[in-house]
Amino acid sequence: MFALTGIGKLVTNDPIHDSGLLGVITDAALVADESGRITWVGKQQDLTSHTDIRPIDVGGRCVIPGFVDSHTHLVFAGDRAEEFEARMAGRPYSAGGIRTTMTATRGASDDALRANVARLAAEALASGTTTIEVKSGYGLSTPDEERSLVAARTATTETTFLGAHVVPPGVNADDYVAEVTGPMLEACAPHARWIDVFCDRGAFDVDQAREILRAGAAKGLDMRMHANQLQHGGGVALGVELGVASCDHCTHLADTDIEALASTSGSTVATLLPTAELCTRSPFPNARRLIDAGVTVALASDCNPGSSYTTSMPLAISLGVISMHMTCDEALWAATAGGAKALRREDVGSLKPGSRADLVVLNAASHIHLAYRPGVAQIGAVVREGRVVAGSL
Ligand code: NIG
Ligand code: FE
Repeated sequence: MFALTGIGKLVTNDPIHDSGLLGVITDAALVADESGRITWVGKQQDLTSHTDIRPIDVGGRCVIPGFVDSHTHLVFAGDRAEEFEARMAGRPYSAGGIRTTMTATRGASDDALRANVARLAAEALASGTTTIEVKSGYGLSTPDEERSLVAARTATTETTFLGAHVVPPGVNADDYVAEVTGPMLEACAPHARWIDVFCDRGAFDVDQAREILRAGAAKGLDMRMHANQLQHGGGVALGVELGVASCDHCTHLADTDIEALASTSGSTVATLLPTAELCTRSPFPNARRLIDAGVTVALASDCNPGSSYTTSMPLAISLGVISMHMTCDEALWAATAGGAKALRREDVGSLKPGSRADLVVLNAASHIHLAYRPGVAQIGAVVREGRVVAGSL
C-alpha cells in the first residue's frame, strides 16, 4: 500500500477530471492498496480522509499511467546491424530480412530466447512500459513458433502467435498456410492470447490473412494484424471486416480505409509504429488524418531486430508529436489508454480507482517534456502493480 503526494500534474486518462483528453488533476495525490490496485486519486488537499499511511512526496513532478506497448517482437536471436547499416547507405527495407532472423532464432536455445525476451522487457520497463505485448514470428516452424511463445509468456500474458510473419524459405505458400492454420496453431494456441498476420507485399495476401485469422479465432484467439505497412493493400479493410482489435502500421491508407476504421467507433484501433518508419526511412502514417476522422489511435514500439530495434515509447511519443502532428495530449493518450484499447484491456492505461497501479513518475513537471526533449531519459520511477520496478521514488 502506498500514497503519492506532491504530484504537480497527474494524468489519469479519466475524462471525469477535466474536459481534456488526459483527465489531468493538478496538485494531486494517489493511493494504492496491497494488491497493487489504485483506490483513490484526487486533489492532495483531500487526501487525509482517504489514507492514514505516510505518503511519498514526488516534489511537484508529473505522474502518468505506465506505457502500454501493444506491438513488439521480442523473441529472436542475433541482430541485423549490418542490414541497418546497408539500409542507411541506400538499400531499401523489405520483409525478406525476417528470414535472416529466422535462421538465428532457430539456432538459439530456449534459454537464449528467454534471455533475449527478459533483456528487452527489462529495457522497456525501465523506460516506462508497464504492459507489453510480445509476438512470436521468427521461428516459422511448429516447434520454433511454439517455443517462441513459451519464451514470450515468461514476460507477459499478452502473447501473440505470428506464425504468419513470412513464408519460410523453401516452403510452398499454400503448404505453409495449411501448417499455420493446422498443426502450428494447435501447438501455439495454448500459449497465446492473440493471433496476428503480416498482410503485405512479400508476406501474406488478403485471402491468406483472412483464412489464418479466422482459424485463430476459431481456436479462441483474439485477432490483430499487421496491415498497410509497405504498400496500400486490403489489410485494413480485412481487419475491419473481421473486427480485429487493432490494425498495426497503417502507413499507406486510402480514404476508404480511414472511413472503415472510423466506422468501428474504436473497436478496431489503428496502432501506429513511427519508430519503424524512422528506422526504415519510410513516410510516417498520417496520424492527424486518422484522429480527425474519429479513428482511435495507439502508439507502440514495434521493437524487432529489423525495422525498429527500440523499446522506447517516449521516442514513439516524440515522433507522434513532431513528425506525425499529434498533439502532446493525443500522443501520450495513444501510448497509454490507446495501447490498452488495442489490447482490449480495461485495467491498464489509466489511473482511476480499480485500475492497476502502473505508473511513471517523470523527472519533469509535465508530460509535454516527453515530446519536447526527444531522446532524453526522463523516467524518475516506474511502478507496476504498486511496486517500484525501476528508478526510485
Ligand atoms: O512490424 N512488418 C512485419 N514485421 C516487423 C518487421 C520484422 C523484421 O523486419 O524483422 C514490423 O516492422
Ligand atoms: Fe511488427
